[in-house]
Amino acid sequence: MAIASTLLTLLPSPTHIILYGVLTVGVILAIHVLSQLIGPKDPKQPPVVFSWIPVLGNAVQFGMDPITFLQDCQKKYGDMFTFTMVGKRVTVCLGADGNQFVFNNKQNLSSAAEAYNHMTKFVFGPEVVYDAPHSVFMEQKKFIKAGLNSDCFRRHVPMIVKETEDFFKNYPKPTGLMEAYSTFGKLIILTASSCLMGKEIRASLDDTVADLYYDLDQGFKPINFIFPNLPLPSYRRRDTAREKMAALYSSIIQRRKADNDNSNSDLLQALMDATYKDGTNIPDHHIAGMMIAVLFGGQHTSATTSAWTILELAARPDLVKELRQEQIEKLGSLKTDLTFENIKDMPLLDAVIRETLRLHPPIYQMMRRVVANKVVCEKNGFEIPKGNHLCAAPGVTQVDPTYFNEPLKYNPYRWIEKTDPVHQLEQGDDANIDYGFGAVGISSNSPFLPFGAGRHRCIGEQFGYLQLKTIMSTFIRMFDFEIEGGKPVPKSDYTSMVVVPEHPSNISYTLRE
Ligand code: HEM
Repeated sequence: MAIASTLLTLLPSPTHIILYGVLTVGVILAIHVLSQLIGPKDPKQPPVVFSWIPVLGNAVQFGMDPITFLQDCQKKYGDMFTFTMVGKRVTVCLGADGNQFVFNNKQNLSSAAEAYNHMTKFVFGPEVVYDAPHSVFMEQKKFIKAGLNSDCFRRHVPMIVKETEDFFKNYPKPTGLMEAYSTFGKLIILTASSCLMGKEIRASLDDTVADLYYDLDQGFKPINFIFPNLPLPSYRRRDTAREKMAALYSSIIQRRKADNDNSNSDLLQALMDATYKDGTNIPDHHIAGMMIAVLFGGQHTSATTSAWTILELAARPDLVKELRQEQIEKLGSLKTDLTFENIKDMPLLDAVIRETLRLHPPIYQMMRRVVANKVVCEKNGFEIPKGNHLCAAPGVTQVDPTYFNEPLKYNPYRWIEKTDPVHQLEQGDDANIDYGFGAVGISSNSPFLPFGAGRHRCIGEQFGYLQLKTIMSTFIRMFDFEIEGGKPVPKSDYTSMVVVPEHPSNISYTLRE
């Protein structure tokens, strides 16, 4: 009894435990702060952004408003600096030189797969995109690119017009409200499905496929980037949806083969007809994975670009008038059918989409992971160690006053008048290089890269532009519109994988005669 009570007096009381805990945390924080203030700094490495909390680092500031955070850091540390985000060390490389450094880095020095695959493999599936060896992924990109050619685009334009007209046909008349991002998100999936995914997927978009897509999409959130696989229902639904989607594609492929159905000119058929360069056929699960990747590559990017374009135009009736005038001048009237050829020849429409992509790039930052012992930036001599992430940020560089006059102003005419500093920049090396999916320009020394550059450059740019231009042209023929209650263009919401307008972003529309 006496021994027990002596032992009890030796055990720390709850108050002591709390006190020790607070003290330990205090000491850790103090060491973390002091080591940054007075600890040795490696002058060969980029400056490190100060943070109060170890491991978590600057994640909260970055998560709340990444663009302002990166701009503040740029003012303090220059175009290259490193910050910490939940244990990841991210070296941000800004400006045209920063883009050149990140996008032109050699494959054996830094890797996109190492930065993204932990998340994307659960959505796209095994052995495709970043889960395939790099050379195989480049071949897969080549197949997709080959399926997105001028002949297909020629067929796509009337399909997109029809989808758009049908989609808005049932909207309440003559006036009403629509939420920009959700409305255009639905329209983009319809147009992308009919043009790329095939008639079978388009036909089941109203029921099964929409649910599968929703569940898969839940695996494509910023949380999945940090925690790719947790034992939670949403993660399990994501995995089931991917398996069902792969099985659905497989059944469509088998049906087309069994019926000898060669009537399809969609991307699915292009992949079915392709073979790897070693002569092997592309397995069904590779085709399914590529189709899912294309759906994800094009969906959020085009959905948010169309929503931002409509919102910017809703605040600028003068631009809408000019766009209609352009159609009348080029096509004779607003009733002339839109075609692949005539839609190419509309400079203002082109500039409007380009300006949206400058001010609201859907993918505002892109990552690579350093896999060599270090990579050295030729421009400034900084060495970035193995394990760090390299980050290019169009969301910052494309609104940098070094390159664009009044960078926060939505001014499509800047792309026509070409008086901004960006247009005086040296174009750099204009040679082309083939990374395995067709020639792309070798130079990424540009401050305007909403589609990336180099070996990971987007292959959906042409389709994206075509889809957006066709939808916008059709929409302005059908409706007059303004932002609800004369409000300004909404702020950006950075909580998804792409930058979307803050919810709700309503426009009020009136059907035109
Ligand atoms: C790559 C943007 C539409 C498929 C990229 C990248 C960007 C981008 C910035 C480079 C990513 C990186 O370097 O980490 C956009 C924008 C679009 C769009 C802004 C529309 C407005 C599309 C469409 C498709 C597509 C419609 C499919 C048809 C791809 C693919 C890649 C890619 C397959 C290659 C990824 C890689 O090599 O790592 N896109 N994209 N994109 N995009 Fe797009």
